[in-house]
Amino acid sequence: MALLALHGSRFAIAVTIVLGLGGVALAAGADELFDKREMAMKQAGGALKALGGAAKSGSVPADAAAKAQLIVDLAAAIPGLFPEGSITDKSRALPDIWTDKAGWDGKVKALADAAAVTLAAASAGDAAALGAAVDATGASCGGCHKMFRGPEKD
Ligand code: HEC
Repeated sequence: MALLALHGSRFAIAVTIVLGLGGVALAAGADELFDKREMAMKQAGGALKALGGAAKSGSVPADAAAKAQLIVDLAAAIPGLFPEGSITDKSRALPDIWTDKAGWDGKVKALADAAAVTLAAASAGDAAALGAAVDATGASCGGCHKMFRGPEKD
């Protein structure tokens, strides 16, 4: 009886330690990833807005290509910014990201493709093409958010 109780408590302690360590390691990594992707997405959003404004004004400024590059960079970074389980209390990422891999990859590719067209138009200084590319890029952002981002949190 005593032996059984001892076994039981040792097992409980071992489980507690394993769960405890796992929880701590993931929470730290997930917080950092959340901050990184929020920053990258906001940066791309700012760039997209500026490019949209430039396209409307009809004159593409010299730094347009650098701004478009930020959106290309976001698309390239997204796969690494969303490892499985990197959801925090603040995160709006939905678990479907990891269960609907094909759907998620399709949305990442849609952004990458639209961003490449945006970069080409910005580099060419073609305001009309830039306007169309900005619209398509914005639609690709929204297309992913609609499927894979949950409601706002406070
Ligand atoms: C492949 C999917 C995907 C694409 C493409 C994508 N996003 Fe996101 N975005 C997300 C997810 C998921 C989150 C929520 C992340 C979290 O909260 O952990 C997010 C969060 C954000 C946020 C953070 C602030 C907030 O309110 O949640 C902004 C801003 C944002 N995205 C802008 C953009 C812009 C601009 C683009 C296009 C240039 C874009 N995103 C493209 C999936 C995507």
